[in-house]
Amino acid sequence: MIDTATLQNWNAQLKDASPEEIIAFSLKQFQGKIALSTSLGLEDQVLTHMLCQIDPTAKIFTLDTGRLFPETYDLIDRTNRKYNIKIQVYFPDPKDVEEMVSQKGINLFYESIENRKLCCQVRKVKPLQRAMQGLDAWITGLRKSQSTTRTELQFIEYDNNNHIVKINPLANWEEEDAWNYVEKNRIPVNPLHKKGFASIGCQPCTRAIESGEDIRAGRWWWENPETRECGLHKR
Ligand code: ADX
Ligand code: SF4
Repeated sequence: MIDTATLQNWNAQLKDASPEEIIAFSLKQFQGKIALSTSLGLEDQVLTHMLCQIDPTAKIFTLDTGRLFPETYDLIDRTNRKYNIKIQVYFPDPKDVEEMVSQKGINLFYESIENRKLCCQVRKVKPLQRAMQGLDAWITGLRKSQSTTRTELQFIEYDNNNHIVKINPLANWEEEDAWNYVEKNRIPVNPLHKKGFASIGCQPCTRAIESGEDIRAGRWWWENPETRECGLHKR
């Protein structure tokens, strides 16, 4: 475990660093035991591009919940081809899914927060634990301004849920910074973004947003903003 003083020291050192510098620093600190976790969202595509420029052999993984949009599957393929990489795809345990669906129904998540959290646990959180085996750090596309639950984000922090270090190179970016970077570098992105889908997760739990709405308003829109985290990023 990394102690608090070391983390504070690293964050102080990286105070004015670019995302690329934060990624390069992290790859060096956690050689071979670090991976980028991508949902193929806007920020994750930025990070995939940056990571591939620095070390195209670094591990990149995604959690396929089985309920993603077809556009997201296409983007996995397009990204692999563009960067000549293989994003590792982790699936949920079929036994867990079968048991959950047989007891609670295929669209259980609309019925209660408890059911929704169970589905996220089975389809995302548990597979994440498998993806993290052997890792000391994971890189995510989290940004402070994405949500009221993310305002305290640090570049490098200790992830108490997963007991590894979590790196958030885009913590201080705004959505506009990501769009500018994507356009400048011709990075492939999910076509759903242009159809009003700001933040994209599973198909049944994501809707397009209206102009003026919060960027995460389309995620689990039937719940309160405070509960809208799937468990990957409990704080
Ligand atoms: S979520 O918790 O609401 O689903 P969000 O979609 O904002 O998270 O994504 C935040 C970060 O979590 C992403 O940048 C990515 O690092 C990670 N993440 C989210 N969903 C996945 C997924 N399906 N597979 C891998 N990483 C993911
Ligand atoms: Fe299940 Fe929805 Fe969570 Fe996806 S986002 S794992 S479909 S509850």
